[in-house]
Amino acid sequence: MDVFVETERLILRRLTEDDADNLVELDGDSEVMRFINGGRPTPREEIENDVLPAFLRYYERFAGYGFWAAEEKTAARFVGWFHLRPTPESPPGEVELGYRLRRSAWGKGYATEGSRALIEKAFAELGVERVFATTMVVNVASRRVMEKAGLRFVRIFHQAWPYRIEGDEKGDAEYALLRSEWEQETEAPTAAARPASLS
Ligand SMILES: CC(C)(COP(=O)(O)OP(=O)(O)OC[C@H]1O[C@@H](n2cnc3c(N)ncnc32)[C@H](O)[C@@H]1OP(=O)(O)O)[C@@H](O)C(=O)NCCC(=O)NCCS
Repeated sequence: MDVFVETERLILRRLTEDDADNLVELDGDSEVMRFINGGRPTPREEIENDVLPAFLRYYERFAGYGFWAAEEKTAARFVGWFHLRPTPESPPGEVELGYRLRRSAWGKGYATEGSRALIEKAFAELGVERVFATTMVVNVASRRVMEKAGLRFVRIFHQAWPYRIEGDEKGDAEYALLRSEWEQETEAPTAAARPASLS
């Protein structure tokens, strides 16, 4: 197994061709796909011919970036994926964070845990200058993950989308963290760590 990041409860590893079934099941849940495309499952053919090959191509094109399968350590169970990737629109040094988890894994703090680990990796090891993430304004769980992972609200924007999704009239939200902000936060002592005389 090609492990990229390990957290307290998760392993983020490279995807392989054997993950096709995992991805079919993940994208087969209309609740998972609700804010992605309005709830339509991705057909197996599309996973096998387009989605998975595109995920695997990232490893050849970018060192340290791409899509990572998340597995629960205890059960070695696939729970979804995270990505940390440059996008065609983003300037060098900027990477986009994203995640998609199985419904059975929601509400356990996994998205926050994996996101924090990737943000740490991006700044501490990969030399990234800015990590950003976007989601539909109405995707409250995803916005909450961005906040809990330490990203800061940047803006609401509107973009053309090939599908109609309930709530899309409210637009998308962008959150981000700059290297300078990350450095300040990692250097700042927490209240608990501060000497008593300063509290
Ligand atoms: C978004 C997603 C990754 C969150 O995963 P998760 O592991 O459940 O997230 P976490 O447990 O780390 O945190 C979720 C937070 O959102 C909150 N939340 C979840 N649903 C909510 C809702 N409907 N309204 C308000 N808050 C909500 C949770 O209470 C939690 O916050 P808290 O810790 O302050 O209580 C998961 O729901 C998912 O995969 N959804 C489908 C795919 C998707 O939408 N991906 C994002 C596309 S941009």
